[in-house]
This record gives sequence, structure tokens and C-alpha cells, in this order.
Amino acid sequence: MKKILILGSEGFLGSVLVPYILKNNNFYIVGIDKCFFGKNNKKVKNFKFYKKDYNLLNTNFFKKFDYIIDLVNISNDPASELNQKFTYLTNFSNKVKLYKKIKNVSKISRYIYMSSCSVYGNNKKLINENSLPKPISLYSKLCLKYENYLRSENKIPFTILRLGTLYGWSPRMRYDIAINKIIRDVVFLKKIEILGGTQLRFFCYNLFACKIINKLIDEKLKKTKNKIFNIGNFNTNIVQLSKKILALTKVKDVNVFHETNTIDKRSYEVSIKSSKKLINNLNFSKFTNNSIIETFNKIKKDKQPFSEKKITLSVYKQYLKKNEI
Ligand SMILES: NC(=O)c1ccc[n+]([C@@H]2O[C@H](COP(=O)([O-])OP(=O)(O)OC[C@H]3O[C@@H](n4cnc5c(N)ncnc54)[C@H](O)[C@@H]3O)[C@@H](O)[C@H]2O)c1
Repeated sequence: MKKILILGSEGFLGSVLVPYILKNNNFYIVGIDKCFFGKNNKKVKNFKFYKKDYNLLNTNFFKKFDYIIDLVNISNDPASELNQKFTYLTNFSNKVKLYKKIKNVSKISRYIYMSSCSVYGNNKKLINENSLPKPISLYSKLCLKYENYLRSENKIPFTILRLGTLYGWSPRMRYDIAINKIIRDVVFLKKIEILGGTQLRFFCYNLFACKIINKLIDEKLKKTKNKIFNIGNFNTNIVQLSKKILALTKVKDVNVFHETNTIDKRSYEVSIKSSKKLINNLNFSKFTNNSIIETFNKIKKDKQPFSEKKITLSVYKQYLKKNEI
């Protein structure tokens, strides 16, 4: 049985990816996470979890794995700016150390790194993987820096997925990502706050990202080796997105507050060609509508929609303060 190591297994994406892979594939998974947001996967067959900083793993540990999926990042612009040194260590320099530990492990047939389409920053043209990245935040600058490092080293086969902004339900719920926040506010506050709202953004359903990752490890596609892919389902701006969410969820009497000024400078539109190439026969618009309704149906049942634990910035702020970092 093939073995997969998932770094950051208990995060927003990790805690839906682990059950997704176990359900759809015959793999043994080991999860590593420092549990900033708790332990979010259930104890199940073929999954073993270690609460640990990924930086503390030694070369021997990696020798039993066929695939490594790296989901560790302080993955939120304001959270990444809280303590730049801490972010630099987590998102870049400790990853370089990790790479040095695994680069000669011949068993590893793929290292999959989750980067972000935010590396494109503010870009006017329709973006594909050959477009020039223009990262703005520390988070996206470090994503790009590590991507470049992986490409220059090129010792183990890698795939870089530049994800659009994620959405969807997860055991480690996040309400600091646009679609989830809008749906939460529609359901529980009957209001939508739009800042700016005309900036274009690329969105990716978390289960869609899981489908892509599962396909990468399942089929060992040659065409994905040492390549970068932009992954997501659709582009829209927040004004249009809010209208779409209201139309699909049919929630009535929602107040929409629109503040046209914003400090958010990011705006980009990403081609979905790569996603379509990797997942054939997918009816994207139907998929998108269903994914928003599925997310709405889950969020409706959230008993603690305003828990600080569901806001990435708050969790890292508390951690840094408590540990005097
Ligand atoms: N959420 C998004 O909208 C989005 C968009 C584009 C790309 N991505 C990328 O996808 C990946 C997963 O994102 P997510 O939303 O699941 O983030 P997340 O913050 O929910 O998950 C990251 C996990 O990494 C863990 N972690 C952090 N530092 C660690 C360390 N030193 N050792 C071990 N574990 C550590 C955290 O505890 C957390 O569980 C990230 O690489 C992110 O950059 C996310």
C-alpha cells in the first residue's frame, strides 16, 4: 500500500483532504500538524497522526513515503504580516530545510506544494501559468520564493498547485475567506459588507482541490511532473459574488452595505484551462452552483459561527502573544 505524508493535515484543506483520499483511494496516510487550529481529523483506519512541528522531522522519517503533500503555510495575508520572522521561518526557510532532508529520498515520487494564485497580485490580463507573478503580501511573496526554490533545485519530482481562494465546509472552519464569510453573514446576520468589491478574484471549492490532488497521486500523471497549475473553479468580483450567493441561497431581507474604498490592491482573473485539463468532463457552472449551496447548507448548521478559532488572524495573534514570539 502506498504511503502519503500530509504536512498541515489538520488545517482547512487538510481536514477535508484526508477523508477524501481515504474514501477514494487505497493509501495509508500519515498526518503532521502543529495543531494551531486543533486536531480536526477523526481517528480512522489507515490514518496515523502526529502533533508535531514539521521542522522537527528527520530524514529517516521521510524514507517510508511515496508522496508528500505540503499544506503548511501561514496562509492569510494579515496573519502573515503579524510577525514577519515567524512567517519567514514557517513559509520559507524551514521548508528549504525540509527540502534538503527529502531531496535524496529516492522513494518519494512526488512532492506536491500548495501555493496560491495570490502570487499574481494585481494583474490586468487573463492569467495563465506563464503570466508574470506580481506578489503583494509577504504570504504570496514567500509562496513564490519557495516555488522558485523548488524549481531551481529540481531534485525530486514536484507539482505546484496555485490554488484560488478556497471555500467550502471543513472541520477546521475558516470564516476569513470570502465566500465562507459572506455565507455566514447572510445566514446569521442577514447582512453583507462589501469593501471595494470590483476586484476580480479566482475561487476554488475545497472538495475540487481534493479531487485534483487525489488525481495527481492516483494517476501519477507524467504531464503534472515538475509543473505548476492554477487550480480553481471560477472568477468573479465580490459584488457579483454576493448577488450570486443571494440568488442561490434564496435568503430574504439581507442588507447589503457597500463601501467603495478599499485597501485591498489584489485583482486578477485566472484561466480555468488547467483545471479543466486535469479534470475532464466537469460541468463547471453546475459544479460551482452546487458547491455554494452545499457550503450554505453546512454553514447554516454551524453552532459557533463567530468563534475566534475560525479566524486565522486571531489564532496566530493569540499564539504569538502567549509564546512571546
Ligand atoms: N485557504 C485558502 O484560501 C488558500 C488559497 C490558496 C492557497 N492555499 C494554500 O493551501 C494550503 C492549505 O491552506 P489552509 O487554508 O488549509 O490553511 P490552514 O491554516 O487551515 O492549514 C495549515 C495547517 O498547517 C499547520 N501548521 C502551521 N505551521 C506548522 C508547522 N510549523 N508544523 C506543522 N504544522 C503547521 C496549521 O496548524 C494548520 O493546521 C496552504 O499551503 C495555503 O497556502 C490556501
